[in-house]
Amino acid sequence: MEIHIWRDLLDPYDLAVQELTAKFEHLRYEYKSRGLYCPIEQVTGRVKTISSILDKMQKKQLDITDLEERMEDIAGVRIICQFVEDIPKVVHMIRERRDMEIVLEKDYIEHMKESGYRSYHIIIRYEVQTMNGPKSIQAEIQIRTMGMNLWSTIEHSLQYKYKHNIPDHIREKLLKSADAIVLLDREMSAVRDEIMDAQNSMQHQANLISEILNNIQNLYRLANQREISKIQEEFYEVYRENDLEKLERFHRQLDIIAEGYRAQGIEFNSGEVT
Ligand code: GTP
Ligand code: MG
Repeated sequence: MEIHIWRDLLDPYDLAVQELTAKFEHLRYEYKSRGLYCPIEQVTGRVKTISSILDKMQKKQLDITDLEERMEDIAGVRIICQFVEDIPKVVHMIRERRDMEIVLEKDYIEHMKESGYRSYHIIIRYEVQTMNGPKSIQAEIQIRTMGMNLWSTIEHSLQYKYKHNIPDHIREKLLKSADAIVLLDREMSAVRDEIMDAQNSMQHQANLISEILNNIQNLYRLANQREISKIQEEFYEVYRENDLEKLERFHRQLDIIAEGYRAQGIEFNSGEVT
């Protein structure tokens, strides 16, 4: 098979990975910009390399003609969550979507693999639009916690190093660390509410500050310079106090001031046009 045929085969998968990661990242953006906790912490994606496609074809005795049907992970997306509790939420999000159809779900969290591997897998069908028209392809979405991701990344490197024959003493250590990750995830879940509260208020504060500075910047064009510089001074004072309620109050007051100028601005502009 020539290289350009591989490219024809893989291009739609590349598009799918780009689209899917953009879509999940956008969900994250939507939550964050509203100051909400997002069950998705990080999204990555990749197209399987030709070399590992060839490896897997050989291992599974696949022919190039049934490659696309039988190899579900040519396109792969990985969703990393902070807490185990976030995983069913992400699964629910995917089940509710209209732009992807679930083919298969594998719960390696409820049923840890013998290796110690844990993750929730969803195989989907997803349609991309190519220059030759629409094409429906399969993709694998792996949903896991940061802890599970740490373990599987390390185990994967060891599999590679030992060519899938990991010595027993290392295998033992991996099983022990898999148990440790189960514990870690459990401990993190126990303080989840507190962590989420802290993160929400951090995000809320960041959003407030960016809105305040945005408002000051906009006012700079409309209002009296001295007044704006006074407002800015006040902002830095409130900021230094590190009191979220005061920051909220300042934000509301500034909004009222900005609203006033905006109203004047519109009048002024409309007067100018006519
Ligand atoms: P492959 O494992 O990909 O050959 O196909 P399969 O049909 O057995 O699917 P499975 O759900 O077992 O695995 C799919 C993917 O999950 C793999 O390609 C890996 O990315 C990941 N995976 C599964 N098992 C393990 C494991 O023991 N260790 C690591 N690090 N990853 C695993
Ligand atoms: Mg497998």
